[in-house]
Amino acid sequence: MSDTTIEPRQLILPMFVREDAREPIAISSMPGVYQHTRDTARKAVAEAVQLGLGGVMLYGVPSSKDEVGSGSLDPNGILNVAIRDAVSEAGDDLLVMSDLCLDEFTTHGHCGVLDSAGRVDNDATLAIYAEMGVAQAAAGAHVVGPSGMMDGQVGVVRSALDAAGYVDTVILAYAVKYASAFYGPFREAVGSSLQGDRKTYQQDPGNDARDALREVDLDIAEGADIVMVKPALAYLDIIRQVRDHVKVPVAAYNISGEYAMVEAAAANGWIDRERSILETLNSIRRAGADTILTYWASEAAELLSRR
Ligand code: PBG
Repeated sequence: MSDTTIEPRQLILPMFVREDAREPIAISSMPGVYQHTRDTARKAVAEAVQLGLGGVMLYGVPSSKDEVGSGSLDPNGILNVAIRDAVSEAGDDLLVMSDLCLDEFTTHGHCGVLDSAGRVDNDATLAIYAEMGVAQAAAGAHVVGPSGMMDGQVGVVRSALDAAGYVDTVILAYAVKYASAFYGPFREAVGSSLQGDRKTYQQDPGNDARDALREVDLDIAEGADIVMVKPALAYLDIIRQVRDHVKVPVAAYNISGEYAMVEAAAANGWIDRERSILETLNSIRRAGADTILTYWASEAAELLSRR
């Protein structure tokens, strides 16, 4: 009689693809998660199709970076290459999604370019995001995920996609994104060079849902097709309020630190790992998320099929 269901199609697997990797490289703070080679990434995509997942979200880990993140625009840059690989592997059986943000590609590790005073320059960044969106759509991405929290990012990406003829490319907007400590392991996963924090462009964890709903309204007005709340576990109340407020699908990101906490406790024998994974995903679905990005996506699909 359980009200809440979790189905593989409601899960999206985030994946890291590393340019110079010759074999998968373990991420120490995320046991069981790897920086993929192009080859192992293709295999993971094929497995995701077999398991009936809803999609994959791709992140690139480039071997060289610069001030403006030019690797993000290069059709032969690792992320664009990984998108092409995934699309050729998955066809139309799985949504191929790509992270649209500069942080993996910049030497300073910020999500945007910097001005002469070293501050993130919102509007200069928008111009690059617009080009990046088109580059990802050209590589075949079904869904692009602007995640940098620049004001106006969804609008410029939508206009650029439409102008380039990519009218069917979907935008998954990282609409509500808090400046969270729980992103810690992700910084290792993408080899981030960030010093400092993202508090000038991500949201204040202390703000209540008014701030979140305002962000969501802006993104939908700018053309977002799906809105995301991130992180998930410390913000279940926000997921619920966003779900009750909007008429588009709501995604939630079960992020790296949430994954690491469960894995660490389970590795110590302090909690039951498999039950904790499913209970975690259940809580996010119960809060109202239509779809969940989770590093456990493939494993959870297997666990669910055994129940
Ligand atoms: C930014 C981005 C981040 C995550 C996804 N996209 C890091 C950040 O905003 O600092 C975090 C995901 C996770 O922690 O699992 N491109």
